[in-house]
Amino acid sequence: MASSWADLGPHRGYFTDDLAAADPEVHAAIEGELRRQQDQIELIASENVVSLASLGALGSVMTNKTVEGYPGRRYYGGAEFADDLESLAIERAKRLFGCAFANVQPHSGSQANQAVYLALLKPGDTILAMALSAGGHLSHGAAPNISGKWLRAVHYGVGADDGLIDYDEVERLAHEHEPRLIIAGGSAYPCVIDFARFGAIAKAAGASLLVDMAHFAGLVAGGVHPDPLPHADVVTATTYKNLRGGRGGLILTNDGDLARRFDSGVFPGVQGSVLLNAVAAKAVCLGEALRPEFKTYAQAVLDNARALAGALTARHVDVVSGGTDTPLMLVDLRARRLTGDAASRCLEEAGLTCNKNAVPFDDQPPSVTSGLRFGVSAATTRGFGVAEFAAIGGLVADVLDGMAGDAAPGTAAEASQKVRALCRDFPIYPDLASCPSS
Ligand SMILES: Cc1ncc(COP(=O)(O)O)c(C=O)c1O
Repeated sequence: MASSWADLGPHRGYFTDDLAAADPEVHAAIEGELRRQQDQIELIASENVVSLASLGALGSVMTNKTVEGYPGRRYYGGAEFADDLESLAIERAKRLFGCAFANVQPHSGSQANQAVYLALLKPGDTILAMALSAGGHLSHGAAPNISGKWLRAVHYGVGADDGLIDYDEVERLAHEHEPRLIIAGGSAYPCVIDFARFGAIAKAAGASLLVDMAHFAGLVAGGVHPDPLPHADVVTATTYKNLRGGRGGLILTNDGDLARRFDSGVFPGVQGSVLLNAVAAKAVCLGEALRPEFKTYAQAVLDNARALAGALTARHVDVVSGGTDTPLMLVDLRARRLTGDAASRCLEEAGLTCNKNAVPFDDQPPSVTSGLRFGVSAATTRGFGVAEFAAIGGLVADVLDGMAGDAAPGTAAEASQKVRALCRDFPIYPDLASCPSS
């Protein structure tokens, strides 16, 4: 006789078979992705390689549990361990960023921003943010995004000559349009932002200031980037770039009244139940970022970004604003008469994965672009240092030179071999079989 219903018929193996046995097609796709990550150099600025501990948390039984609300104030029973977990993640976020309040529930960076808008704004209110075309983010009032449809978005850009934020222009726009919210931070802005100046502009305009630190949260956590919290009413972040965790968002503030509004903005405002497995992974990555070795990682990210930008510049690849203070940089291909689309494809063929990206004042459409965005967070995690990133800069330049017909025949093939050798020397998970998916 069967010992439980799970031993019977179509349910056989439900509690016992791993993914490979239960669903070979899904397993094959995941295995393929694992090998791709192993065999390519990841230069996409929004990616990283999470720890095995984070993967374990993401694939945990926490995904089975439904809770709504906040620790101690849930709408479902059986929340004892969920409460412990979320409280732990909140405490770690507060400790890491030295702030008084944290919400760890946003499913993504965009939803963290939406929750802030819901808490602070009414439909039709004016926001002032960096234009998407200048390096801002979709969720900062871009026309096709809900933020652009439901709010009146006014955008600032960057200088044509230097690619830098023109603070006088931000001040002028704030004075002219009287926004209720000003946003600093973007997806493709490589320089340190003057948070104090933004804070002063917002104060003078009677606006709140949101700093979206998605792309430099890990550097702030590691103490190698200026901290926006003293100057902002609220700071949002993603956890999966240089914070090196699973996918998700955070909302941080020092203001208790605002914190309550942001909590309501998240739930019941823009989200329902909590992705507890994602919260578990956030707790793990925040715990990792609290360890001293994370400071070493953050410094390495900064050093590596500078090494890559320097190597590209040395090979006459045009780096917007001349370098970087963050994990990312933007390359302008216009002088080389190449598009971001074509260049990103050639680089991918050589095993260098990056994304096409508009450069300031780009006249190509977003599906083509005249630029590339590179980030170093993921490849730094696998152990690359400044020597490897200097070499990667040379390999990128080899591929771009090859596209323009300025390289010796076979240069791209050689680049591809060197990429493979680097990946072999710096493996990501010690052994593929140790990954939960295998
Ligand atoms: C500045 C900024 N904010 C928010 C986000 C949104 O993150 P998500 O894709 O998790 O919604 C990103 C994404 O990369 C970003 O660059």
